[in-house]
Amino acid sequence: MNKPKVVVTRKWPAEVEAQLKDLYDVQLNESDNPMTSDELKHALQSADALLPTVTDALTSDVLNVENKRTRIIGNFGVGYNHIDIDAAKAEGLVVTNTPHVLTDCTADIAMLLLLMSARRASEGERLILQNQWVGWKPTQLIGQKVTGKTLGLIGFGRIAQAMAKKAHHGFDMKIIFYAPSQPAQAIMDDLQATRCETVEEVLTEANFVSLHCPGGKDTRHLINEQRLKLMRPSAHLINTARGDVVDSKALIKALKEGWIAGAGLDVFEGEPNIDPGFFELDNVSLLPHLGSATEETRVAMGNRVLANLSVFFAGEEPGDRVV
Ligand code: DGY
Repeated sequence: MNKPKVVVTRKWPAEVEAQLKDLYDVQLNESDNPMTSDELKHALQSADALLPTVTDALTSDVLNVENKRTRIIGNFGVGYNHIDIDAAKAEGLVVTNTPHVLTDCTADIAMLLLLMSARRASEGERLILQNQWVGWKPTQLIGQKVTGKTLGLIGFGRIAQAMAKKAHHGFDMKIIFYAPSQPAQAIMDDLQATRCETVEEVLTEANFVSLHCPGGKDTRHLINEQRLKLMRPSAHLINTARGDVVDSKALIKALKEGWIAGAGLDVFEGEPNIDPGFFELDNVSLLPHLGSATEETRVAMGNRVLANLSVFFAGEEPGDRVV
């Protein structure tokens, strides 16, 4: 029997690519350049499975291409706001993602950014790198204490809960959150967490606000000028979710004018293009979308895609099916 044809849009960890080569007639992306819309369309016409990731815009125009051969889109990543899910559904495509395996590492990056922002780590490192540090003094780079403070989470899925666990059990933080549905009582009890009625309540109360909602049209600019103004002047905003959840222009204004004390960002509107306004600020810590970037997690993400594919090609329902 012929092996199914599979197109991978970016370079993956070598050990996962080796397994793909064994199992499928696979087209890898050795150059690791993002594929153009035309290349993605061609892949949909020529392969049984397309394995994209966050940098591939699978718009309705791309997904509606004629003479499609593809039946499954095995996304490498948990977020799938780069895929037009309605179009995929209408075209009868199966879409899977890679939940669970990146939860802890992404929560670690959120906690890292929280600490960096609170303790002015990026600013301190710049001082050293620019050879401007003249030595310790009692009033230098005074940040904010993290232990015992209130962490407010917007969204309370797996990654938010993992961050809450680290923050509550490791840093004795009080946990409040906004989420559309009520989590299990055992989770609430373990974290001694309080559910707020509104996003506004979280923003007003928290010393640190961390975003954990999905991207896409429903959450675009959820954090806007009006909402930033509700935060405490000593508060910090952390975003490891998706860039477009925050209105960048409004955030830059908030950081410049001191409506909030700082921000830690791992994701950006229109990434990899970053609003240059961020580069002029001292009170922002910037990371290049590192959430899931550990050896263990990236291999596990690849293996998760492989598991979804093999179940699909065996004629069964993949566990991580989102459409
Ligand atoms: C995810 O899995 O959604 C991460 O942001 C990387 O794509």
